[in-house]
Amino acid sequence: VVLVVDFGAQYAQLIARRVREARVYSEIVPSTMPVAEMLAKKPRAIILSGGPSSVYAEGAPRLDRAIFEAGVPVFGMCYGFQLMATTLGGTVDNTGAREYGRTDLHVSKSGSTLFEGTPDEQSVWMSHGDACSAAPEGFTVTASTDVVPVAAFENDEKKLYGVQHHPEVMHSTYGQQVLEHFLYRGAGIEPNWTTGNVIDEQVEAIRAQVGTKRAICGLSGGVDSAVAAALVQKAIGSQLTCVYVDHGLMRKGETEQVEKDFVAATGVQLKVVDAADRFLEALAGVSDPEEKRKIIGREFIRVFEQAQAEIVAEAAGGEDVAFLVQGTLYPDVVESGGGTGTANIKSHHNVGGLPEDLEFELVEPLRKLFKDEVRMVGQELGLPDEIVQRQPFPGPGLGIRIVGEVTRERLDLLREADAIAREELTAAGLDRDIWQCPVVLLADVRSVGVQGDGRTYGHPIVLRPVSSEDAMTADWTRMPYEVLAKISTRITNEVADVNRVVLDVTSKPPGTIEWE
Ligand code: XMP
Repeated sequence: VVLVVDFGAQYAQLIARRVREARVYSEIVPSTMPVAEMLAKKPRAIILSGGPSSVYAEGAPRLDRAIFEAGVPVFGMCYGFQLMATTLGGTVDNTGAREYGRTDLHVSKSGSTLFEGTPDEQSVWMSHGDACSAAPEGFTVTASTDVVPVAAFENDEKKLYGVQHHPEVMHSTYGQQVLEHFLYRGAGIEPNWTTGNVIDEQVEAIRAQVGTKRAICGLSGGVDSAVAAALVQKAIGSQLTCVYVDHGLMRKGETEQVEKDFVAATGVQLKVVDAADRFLEALAGVSDPEEKRKIIGREFIRVFEQAQAEIVAEAAGGEDVAFLVQGTLYPDVVESGGGTGTANIKSHHNVGGLPEDLEFELVEPLRKLFKDEVRMVGQELGLPDEIVQRQPFPGPGLGIRIVGEVTRERLDLLREADAIAREELTAAGLDRDIWQCPVVLLADVRSVGVQGDGRTYGHPIVLRPVSSEDAMTADWTRMPYEVLAKISTRITNEVADVNRVVLDVTSKPPGTIEWE
């Protein structure tokens, strides 16, 4: 394992991903972890991330010198670089000369492990206030900028390396190469970590955890729960039962995809609960978005728990069903403090005849994976592309894409319009360029139109194509007019009661991606 020591910026996750892209397994640890504990993980190399602090700031994170003396190769980036410099006797000045953004790096390659084979002048991403003016003894300075005399240093004998810039970000043109040079040449690591290894490892771990007991998994139709279920199915086969709650708010073909394609690809035992009537009844007369979300969430839990209880009741002995599978991803784990223990969650059910406090232990086979890796695992497990490459879709489904009351007729109408938009986006090859494209029905709005020879008074459909990296911020996608025209023509022609298609050209912020 390569440890990425997190000094409190968002960079650590990105570094960990880049290391894995170099086919070397990496994990993130907090900078507060004692060095002895880090070394106990027997890392092949350690990377010190950037961070928001100045090494001079009071309370700025420090690092025990022992980390540089254990014979483990270390690579410091940005804050990690400055910390390395000051800890080992170099000089870092609080010059006030800031460098932020794209910067030209002047590289001197003689004696450089990091920069071999890259140009003398290269563009890198900088973000710092303090600057290193003298490298520690025994180090060779291998790069500078117009502002910073020491922008990289290396000590091949001790296997210690550092750069002032951020090699992990895309704007550092040769960043991935520099990182790989550290991993392969500096630390002598062989690149052999693959998603195939992940599957083998996880299958073994799941078998060890679950033993002969049974597990339950809720399928949402999304990528994460599907891949988690497929992985657990591979490990324990018929000991797993999946539950899929059809709330009637899914898009066209999605329920069938889970019922047919997913089962065909995995052979999983699936319990489908058709709860559409129940959801529609609960949603009757409700137009407030928050209220809708609450109702859908509440009903979902009730239906799921009832299905769960039925599975437990059907299983011999009941207590045998001891595990709940969840598709938790690595970013969630890191962001919630990176705890390594497995939480016990309690199922609150109120069905008679069951053990009062039946507790499920969690099985989370994707806890160490990033989203793109989850997709690769899914692909390798043979899941269809329609599931593995699926764009994000909100849990409350089409229920929050009908502005106004949710009724069966409106759902049918929106499902048709949405299917047309998706079909045309796919046909135009835009699925990977667009993060997602909600299609929204303004159910309480009508406008006048003319179709054939007659006047119409129908509803507008909104197209909301967005580009994003993480859904936290987004921009509206500049889509080819021809594709928009095709979608508009088809929707107004093919979907009864819709006589207008409009495009949402709002970024996020201020607009959220969904309309409700
Ligand atoms: P907003 O509308 O907040 O959406 O900009 C950000 C991302 O989250 C998705 N989304 C949800 N996903 N349950 C989910 O699982 C929800 O209740 C929910 N609401 C919004 C949305 O599709 C977008 O990708």
